[in-house]
Formats: sequence, structure tokens, C-alpha cells
Amino acid sequence: MAGHLLLHSLLLSLPLTAGWTASNCLVTEGSWLSLVSRFFHICPLDSRLSFLASCTQVTNLTQALEVVPQSVEGLCLAGSISILPQDAFSNYPGLKVLGLNLQLTQLLPGALRGLGQLRELSFLASPSKSYLFLHPNAFDDLRSLQRLNFLGPCLDRNSSVQLPTSLRWLVVKYGCLQDMGELDDIFPDLAHSAFSGDARTLDVLDLSFNRKLKIASPGALQGLRLGTLYLDHTKMEAAGVVSLGLQRLDKLSVSFTVTELPAEAVAHFELQELDLGSKRIGKITLEALASCHSLRRLGLKNSGLTELPPNFLAAMPRLERLNLDRNQLQSVRLCMNETGLVSGLWTLNLSNNGLRTLPPATFSCLPHLRELLLQGNQLVSLDSQVFQDLWRLEILDLGRNPLVNLGESWLAPLPSLTTLNLLDTHISFRSTWGSWGPESLHNLRLQLPSAPAGVALSLPAGLTSLELHAVPGMKPQKLFPSVFPILQNLTLDGWGLQLGTQNISEIFPALRQLTLLGSSLEALCSQDSFNFFLWQLPRLQSLKVRGDGHSPRPCCITGLPSLQELRLEILEYRARPRPVQLKELVGKLPRLQVLRLARTGLETLSAAAFQGLGSLQVLVLDWENGLVLDDSVREHSPRMPQYVYILSSSLACQCANAWEARNSWVLYLQALFRAWLQGLRCRKHEGKNFLYDVYVSHCRQDQGWVVQELLPALEGCPPDDQGLRLCLPERDFEPGKDVADNVADSMASSRVTLCVLSHQALHTPRCRLELRLATSLLLAAPHPPVLLLIFLEPISRHQLPRYHRLARLLRRGDYCIWPKEDEEKDSFWAWLRSRLGQPGCRQMGCR
Ligand SMILES: *[C@@H]1O[C@H](CO)[C@@H](O)[C@H](O)[C@H]1NC(C)=O
Ligand SMILES: *[C@@H]1O[C@H](CO)[C@@H](O)[C@H](O)[C@H]1NC(C)=O
Ligand SMILES: *[C@@H]1O[C@H](CO)[C@@H](O)[C@H](O)[C@H]1NC(C)=O
Ligand SMILES: *[C@@H]1O[C@H](CO)[C@@H](O)[C@H](O)[C@H]1NC(C)=O
Ligand SMILES: *[C@@H]1O[C@H](CO)[C@@H](O)[C@H](O)[C@H]1NC(C)=O
Ligand SMILES: *[C@@H]1O[C@H](CO)[C@@H](O)[C@H](O)[C@H]1NC(C)=O
Repeated sequence: MAGHLLLHSLLLSLPLTAGWTASNCLVTEGSWLSLVSRFFHICPLDSRLSFLASCTQVTNLTQALEVVPQSVEGLCLAGSISILPQDAFSNYPGLKVLGLNLQLTQLLPGALRGLGQLRELSFLASPSKSYLFLHPNAFDDLRSLQRLNFLGPCLDRNSSVQLPTSLRWLVVKYGCLQDMGELDDIFPDLAHSAFSGDARTLDVLDLSFNRKLKIASPGALQGLRLGTLYLDHTKMEAAGVVSLGLQRLDKLSVSFTVTELPAEAVAHFELQELDLGSKRIGKITLEALASCHSLRRLGLKNSGLTELPPNFLAAMPRLERLNLDRNQLQSVRLCMNETGLVSGLWTLNLSNNGLRTLPPATFSCLPHLRELLLQGNQLVSLDSQVFQDLWRLEILDLGRNPLVNLGESWLAPLPSLTTLNLLDTHISFRSTWGSWGPESLHNLRLQLPSAPAGVALSLPAGLTSLELHAVPGMKPQKLFPSVFPILQNLTLDGWGLQLGTQNISEIFPALRQLTLLGSSLEALCSQDSFNFFLWQLPRLQSLKVRGDGHSPRPCCITGLPSLQELRLEILEYRARPRPVQLKELVGKLPRLQVLRLARTGLETLSAAAFQGLGSLQVLVLDWENGLVLDDSVREHSPRMPQYVYILSSSLACQCANAWEARNSWVLYLQALFRAWLQGLRCRKHEGKNFLYDVYVSHCRQDQGWVVQELLPALEGCPPDDQGLRLCLPERDFEPGKDVADNVADSMASSRVTLCVLSHQALHTPRCRLELRLATSLLLAAPHPPVLLLIFLEPISRHQLPRYHRLARLLRRGDYCIWPKEDEEKDSFWAWLRSRLGQPGCRQMGCR
């Protein structure tokens, strides 16, 4: 195997019939964003956008944008450019979200011209390391802008920027703000709109992580009506918030900022929501609580609380959500007082505390509770009375508790329960497991309890979603009932079930989504010479498998007629890795649209494996090292999925020739990309003229013939401008540009591609690449060039490399052999001239 080429990311996408790729840019459709989200992390982008691009290492904006289709709605650029030129994005009038991580120092008016549809604009930089100067009119054209984010750059206090009136969301995070008054200098119309003079309304002002922000100049935000103010991880004091002059404030978030409950601010604004969270809080005083009657939501995550004050809930009669996640509570005293208090609380999060027991009346004052989260505590048993009054409870999370005993019919008091989590508990088998109580229970996550042999695990028959975790070494259990008529989602971690594989579609007739973790796939795989997936599930739409690296043989997923999405991860056999072929992983899946493979040990990707995948649109290969894309893939590239992403993988090559191994694939992909792009451009600029009439592909050994025979015959003499314009690689290639770029650009800007072939040419890597490009363009490009061949010596069709497909493509009249005899040369030139047509491109323009 020749040299490995390490790819950070590579996209090969084949929109409909064309193919393309770009080295520093990834392009995706919003619906596929989750498959490649790792590579879109640099900016906030939205999966509801139809078409997205993300480019890294941008140093020349013009160049970078050359590979970005004009129809993108979301664009993210990372690199180093200090100033955006005028009209930098005017080719992208449909842009809705733009993120710039470019080390910009200035933003001048006109740079964002034409972005009338832009909804969200973000500037990103390393936290508080650089200054960004904004011209007062920098945002003038952004009529639809709703969100403006500065994540990192320090803003020049002298900027005095006008904000669009449509703005609802302003984020100045990780910057250098020290005084709220600076905001008033930078955005003088923040509080009052410059247009109407009225006070402005913002949904969100986020100033968190300005670690030096300390001073609140009184009246700095005079009149502003604000939904939420984020001041997390700053040094602001809550009292300062009161003096800002805000006309309205609904929600305040001050995690890691204040050390006590900001009672004054709560009372002043009659806050609806408050988020605290800092170990230093430790205690909530009754005095502070007294001013909290307006709160609907209180977040006290990670606040070092060891106990709650008495009458905690009585002080907040409107409270609906209370988050006490990650404190040190060992008991909960919410309903201890016999005053008949009834709280309207909907959600109570007590996860990750030190709760050991729950006395019977713990939740007795919470008849409206819908969601109770008790994950990660020390509960060993549950009193049968504890849920007595929670008749509206829908979600109960008891995961990660050392629960052993559950009382008889412990779920009976919960008639509305739909979702129950019992993962990572130590519940043991009881003969009364059948009494699951509520018929409403749809969604169950359960650690399989150990049971004596021969006893069936009984579950509610009305489940729509089930997750079962097996304990290693446990005896497989039978399931009761034997049919789950509406179960849609099934997740199995490890294998602990006794299930026949033959009638599985009768047991789970409605199954749509199956997730297999750990060793569970092995149990579902035939063990003969060709391992294949045994479960016949005619309705299954999504299958996700994440192995544990212990299974020696891959299992071929095949025969699932409705499967649309398949994800296979960590299937490599760690002890003795062996190369895997795609056809060992997937077989016949006629509806499959998305295939994502990560760490499967895949080595060879060949066209044959795609035969059973006629609907495939997206292929993602992630963390697959030493990938070999064999020539058959190249040949079939127009029939490959529309998008192929090769991420964090290395490519290897079978070819003996090192040059080919290192370059040809990437060059080939880049060239295809450019061809596709030219097609797109052409559609935009109809009637564009070609730069050249003929692109002459030949190898150096045949240059003599080209210069001495071909040029004089076709180009004519310079003053007489009647000749054809020929593009010759040696003469006309832009110096400094790489070969593939040149080849692809030149071909795309030529009306006809003429290949000069000899035995020598066929053995030269670059000639072979050019031939391959030319033929691929014929197959793939929306506006293919005319391809003509000249054989300088007789070459049998069989000598044409198979993958060139030339033999199959050649129509009569598209090729000619250079005659040995002088008298036959006239007819050769006549043939060539007639095939090349007239100079210019009137009849050949893009249609
Ligand atoms: C940027 O790229 C464009 C197009 O490739 C080129 O014309 C221009 O000269 C480049 N600019 C700089 C500053 O290199
Ligand atoms: C702001 O403007 C003043 C006067 O024009 C100038 O002296 C000062 O240096 C400027 N500050 C910054 C940060 O550019
Ligand atoms: C119950 O609340 C009332 C009034 O809020 C208070 O006077 C009484 O001491 C409380 N009782 C207990 C047991 O905490
Ligand atoms: C409750 O706590 C859990 C566990 O940390 C957390 O994941 C969840 O987001 C919290 N839920 C709410 C509603 O605050
Ligand atoms: C099944 O899982 C999918 C994806 O996780 C989810 O969107 C869907 O709501 C689930 N269906 C049920 C019935 O729980
Ligand atoms: C599936 O097959 C097993 C064994 O053949 C049988 O016991 C069971 O009843 C069958 N289940 C259904 C739902 O037909």
C-alpha cells in the first residue's frame, strides 16, 4: 500500500448527476447536518436551513467562496482575513445565517451589502484577544437581522454602531466589557431605536463570560424592554442590574456571578425566571425568599445547597419549575409543613443530590407535578406512599440509584405516568413484576433484573419505546407478553433476551427504530460462513449499531425493505483488526438514504457494494483509516450517493504508481467539483462565452506533434483572428495554480476537449488523469464539453484503460487516427475542423 493521505475532511458530493468536492469547505443540506455536525461546530448554524457550507483556513475570501454554491442559506467561514471587502457576499442574496471566525479587525459599510434576508450574524474570535472596529453603518443593509452575536472579539468603544430595527437578540460574549455603559457607546440606539425614538424591545441580551464586567453605569440601558439578561460568569452585582434603567426584565441568569439570591432585582422587576448556580451560594435565606413571589422558574443548579429553608414553596406561589440539580441535599423538605399548602409546581429536578430516603409525604403538596427527576441519588427503596398524590405525574426518572426494593404496586398511584427510567439500578426480580400499574406507560428504560431461569420478564404491552440494558453474564430471559403491538423504538444494550429470530416481525410488528449497543448485534447475526442480520423487520426505518470492539466478524445488514438510515460504529475487532469490505457490512437495502460508518475497520469501498443501495443519498465515512477507494468507484461515481463525506480518515491507494496514489483521487474529486460548479455558474450566467475553443490534452512526449502540426493548422497566425483558440497546458496554465485546478478550469472553459493519445500518453499519470476527467465530465457535468480523440498511432480499444470508459463512450466520428501518409492529412484536418466547428461559442453557450 502506498502513502497514506490524511484527510481532515473531504466532501465528495454528486448533486444529481454531477460530482464535486472541496478541500476546505464542507457543504451539506440541513437535514443531514447532524451527520457532519462536528465539522460545522465553528459557528451556530441551523438544521432548518436547506443548504449549508462551512469553510476553514480561509485566507482569500474570493477564492474560498469560489467553491461555495450560491444557493447556500447558512455559511460559516474560519480563517484569517482582517477586513472584509465591499460586497463580500453579494453573490449570496439568500443567505440567512452567516458566521465569521476570521480575525476581523474592522467592518466597513458595504461589506455586508445585499444580505437583506440575513437573520443571524455572528463574529467569532479567541476570547478577548482582539478588537473589532465596527463602522456606524456597517449593518445598514441587514433589514431582516434578528440575531447579532459577538463571541470573543472585544468591541471598540468608539464604534457607535446603528443596530437594525428588526434586531431581537444581541450577544456580546467572551469579550472585554467592563462597564455596562460601554454598550451605550458601542450601540447608542440599543435602548432607543434611532428610527422611531421609542424604547426598543429585545428578547435576549447576553453579556455572559465578560469576565471583567463589573460596573453598571446607572441608566446605561434606560428604557430598554428586555426578555432575558444573561450575566453568567461576570463580576456584576445584582444590585447594579436594578439601576440600569431597564423598563422591563423577565428573566435574569447570573450563574457563577452572584453569591446570594438577588432579592432586590427579583422584586424590582417582578422577575419570572431566575437562574443562579454557584457553589458559594450555599444557603437561601428566608428574607431573600420573601421577595420571590413573582418567580415561575427558579434554577439553583450546583449551588452548594445542603438544605432548603422551611416554607420554600410557600414563598413562591407561582413557581412551576424548580431545578435543584447537583446540590448536596440529603433530604427534601418541600411539603413538610401541615399548613395545607398546595404548590403549582410542574417540574422538580432533584437529580444528583444525596437523597437516601423519601418520607411518605415528601411530594404531598405537589398535585400538579408532571415531571420528577431523581436521577443519581442514593435511594435504596421507595415507600409505597411516596407517590400517593402525584396523580398527574407523567415523567419519573429514578436512574442511577442503588434501588433494590420497590413496594408492591408502587406505580399504582401514578395513573398518568408515560415515561419511566430505571436504568442503572439494582432492582431484583419479583414475582409481582407484572403489576406495572398505569396503562399510560409508553416509554420504559430498564436494567434487566436478574431472574431465576425459566421466568419471563413481564412488561406493559402498551409500550411504544423500550430500552433494555443487560448485565454481562446474565441468563437470557423470556419476554412477556409475546407481542408488543405498538412498540416503535427498541434499544438493546447487551443481549439478555430469549427471542426467536424467525417470528420477530410478529413480536414487534410496529418497530421503526432499533438501536443495538455493545454485544447485542452478535446475538442477532447468523453464525454461518456469511454473517448476516437475522431480524426480518419490514417496517424498520432506522438502525443504529454501536459495537464494543469485541466481535471478531462483521455482520452484514441486509434485507430490511423500509430501512432509511443506518449507522454503524465501533465494529472493528480490537484484538485482531482485519480489513473489512463494504459488502461485508451492508447488503440489499433498497430504501436506504443515509449510511454512516465510523470505526468499522472498513478498508475497501468498491462500486459493487452500492448495487443494493439504490436510494442512497448520503455516505459518511468517519474515523476509517487506510481507506481504499478502488477504481470501480471512480467509474461509477455518477451513480454514487449525492453526498459522500470522508471525515477524519486516511486514504490509501492500491495503485502502484506513487503519484497516482498520493494525488489522483483528491485531484479527481476537486476537478469534478469544479466541473459541477461551472455547471451551476453557467445556469446563472446564461450565454457565457467560453474562454477557449479547444482544450488540448496531451502528454509531454507528444508535445512536438501538437506544436508543429496541430497549432499551426488550427490557430492560424495572430493578426488573422479567424483561428480557433487553443488551450495548452504548458502555455496557458496559470502559473502557481495546481494541476487539477488548471485542468478542470481549462476544460470547463473550453468548448471542446481534444485528447491526443499515444501509447506513451496512456502510460503518463497526468494524461490518464486528464482522460479520466474528460470522460467523467462527459458523464457527469450538466453541460458536458465535446470530447474528441486523436490517436497518433493505432491503439486498440482494448488498450484504453478500462476505467476510462472511452471505448464505450466513443461514438463513430468522435475519434480519428493521425495518418502516416501526407496525402491523407488533408482529410484528417477537414474532419477535425468540421468536428471543432466555428471559432467562438454562439451555438455552444451554456444552455
Ligand atoms: C484571491 O483570489 C482571487 C481568485 O482566485 C485572486 O484573483 C486574487 O488575486 C486573490 N487575492 C489575493 C489578495 O491573493
Ligand atoms: C476613541 O476615540 C478617541 C478620540 O477620537 C481616541 O482618542 C481613542 O483612542 C479611541 N479609542 C479607541 C479604543 O479606539
Ligand atoms: C408551618 O408554617 C407556619 C406558617 O408558615 C409556621 O408558623 C409553622 O411553624 C410551620 N410549622 C412547621 C412544623 O414547620
Ligand atoms: C435536571 O437534571 C438533569 C441531570 O443533570 C439534567 O440533565 C436536566 O437537564 C435537568 N432538567 C431540567 C428540566 O432542568
Ligand atoms: C422514537 O425515537 C425517535 C428518535 O429518537 C423519536 O423522535 C420518537 O419520538 C420516538 N418514538 C416513540 C414512540 O417514542
Ligand atoms: C414465535 O415463535 C416461538 C417459537 O417458535 C413461539 O413460542 C412464539 O409463540 C412465537 N411468537 C409469536 C408472536 O408468534
